[in-house]
Amino acid sequence: MTQDELKDAVAAAAIDEVRPMLGKDIVIGVGTGSTANFFIDRLAALRGDFRGAVASSEASAKRLKDHGIDLYELNEVGTLPIYVDGADEVNAHLHMIKGGGAALTREKIVAACSTTFICIADASKRVARLGDFPLPIEVIPMARSYVAREMVKLGADPVYREGVVTDNGNQIIDCYGLEIDDAVALERQINAIVGVVTNGLFAARPADVLLLGSTEGVSRQLPA
Ligand code: A5P
Repeated sequence: MTQDELKDAVAAAAIDEVRPMLGKDIVIGVGTGSTANFFIDRLAALRGDFRGAVASSEASAKRLKDHGIDLYELNEVGTLPIYVDGADEVNAHLHMIKGGGAALTREKIVAACSTTFICIADASKRVARLGDFPLPIEVIPMARSYVAREMVKLGADPVYREGVVTDNGNQIIDCYGLEIDDAVALERQINAIVGVVTNGLFAARPADVLLLGSTEGVSRQLPA
C-alpha cells in the first residue's frame, strides 16, 4: 500500500468511528493536513447527517466549504463532541508533535474544546520517543530571535521556516534535536517563553484515540 492509501484507510476508519455520533445538531472539529484531507473528502458523503464543522485552518475551511459542508466559528458552538486530525509524530501515550502544516495554534484550540480527539495517522508517524520530527513553534514575529535563543538553551537547533505566515499572521520556528522524554513538562516550559503563541507538543491534551494505518490494516489504540 502507498502512504496515501494508508492515509485514506485511516480516514475511512475515522468515518466509521464518527458516523454513530452524528446528528442534525452535531458540529464536529476537523483538522489540517494531507491525512485530514482524506477525512474531509470522505466526510462529504455524510454532509446531510450533521450540522457542520469547525475547521482548524483556512485551508481545511476551504476544502470543507467546497464539499458543501457548513462552517461554524468555534465561538458560536462551544464544545465539540469530536475532533479528527493527523499528526507528525505520536507516541504510546498519544502525545503528539503537530504543526508541520503550520496550523498548530488553531488545531490546539479546537482540540481543547473537543470531548474526543481522534488522531489519524499512517504507521510512519508512530514513534517510541517524540523529537525526530522538528518541533514547530508559532511565535509573534518580533519575538522570533528571542524565542530561538531560549530554545537553544533547551538544547534545540531552531530554524526559521522562511516564507511561512500562519493563519494568525505569525511565524514558525522548527526546533531540531530535541530529545523529548517529558512532553507534558516541555510543552508547559516552551509555552512560558514570552512571544510563544503555541508549541507543537500536544501532550497536556493528548489524543483520546489513535487510528493507525499499516500494511496489516488499521489498528485502534488508546493511550498507554
Ligand atoms: C498541521 O499543522 C499539522 O499539525 C498536521 O496535522 C500534521 O502535520 C499532519 O499532516 P499530514 O497528515 O499531512 O502528515
